[in-house]
Amino acid sequence: MNPLKHVAIIMDGNGRWGLKFKNSRNAGHKAGLNTVEKIIKETIKKDISFLTLFAFSTENWKRPRKEINYLFSLLENFLINRIEDLHKQNIKLKILGSKKFSPRLNKLLNDSEKKTSKNTKLQINLALNYGSKSELINAFKKMKKNKNTITEKNLSRNLQTKNIPDPDLLIRTGNTKRLSNFLLWQLAYSEIFFEKKLWPAFNEKDYNKIIKEYKSIKRNFGKI
Ligand code: IPE
Ligand code: IPE
Ligand code: MG
Repeated sequence: MNPLKHVAIIMDGNGRWGLKFKNSRNAGHKAGLNTVEKIIKETIKKDISFLTLFAFSTENWKRPRKEINYLFSLLENFLINRIEDLHKQNIKLKILGSKKFSPRLNKLLNDSEKKTSKNTKLQINLALNYGSKSELINAFKKMKKNKNTITEKNLSRNLQTKNIPDPDLLIRTGNTKRLSNFLLWQLAYSEIFFEKKLWPAFNEKDYNKIIKEYKSIKRNFGKI
């Protein structure tokens, strides 16, 4: 049985789900938030230490302003309403990506990270305005500035995911088989599951099925 420390998820398919069932992409984003809650609960149950959720990519700024505003208002409300409870559950929140949002949201994100920084049960990494290529470029720039030698270890240390083990398992919902600029370095040896269901339709049962299959895989890491 493979140990499972870190699950990363590309939560894709909100827009299509919303259009199909509610005639609105934004309704899909709202429904997607319920799935986030379910998956957090199940992750705690399963004693997994790290959960990384891709919520907004550096490329998602190309979407209509109205959709972007809605997404960030959902996030703001989520943090305002839920951070206290997450904190009580001993959950640590970390933001991956660059915090270039409204001053109000930036502050909310910083406060939430600070409040939960000592928690130890589960670390949730929320990838927001995150792009793996820009993360790598920034890491190389830092290494150059500090005159670090270019090694795998040094590069890992200069990424935003320093101190976080690489994901064991990547799940992408939404019936699309691509990485969309997510954790390109960190996913080098992850087991990848592409799930047909759209994110709002994804549930604990689907999650557990994937976890079960993951546990039975023979992970080689180059060996035989
Ligand atoms: C989710 O789903 C995530 C975000 C980018 C916020 P999408 O909004 O990409 O949904 P689809 O792929 O258009 O259905
Ligand atoms: C990836 O989904 C980003 C998030 C889930 C936040 P997208 O829907 O933006 O990816 P592409 O554009 O289809 O590759
Ligand atoms: Mg999508």
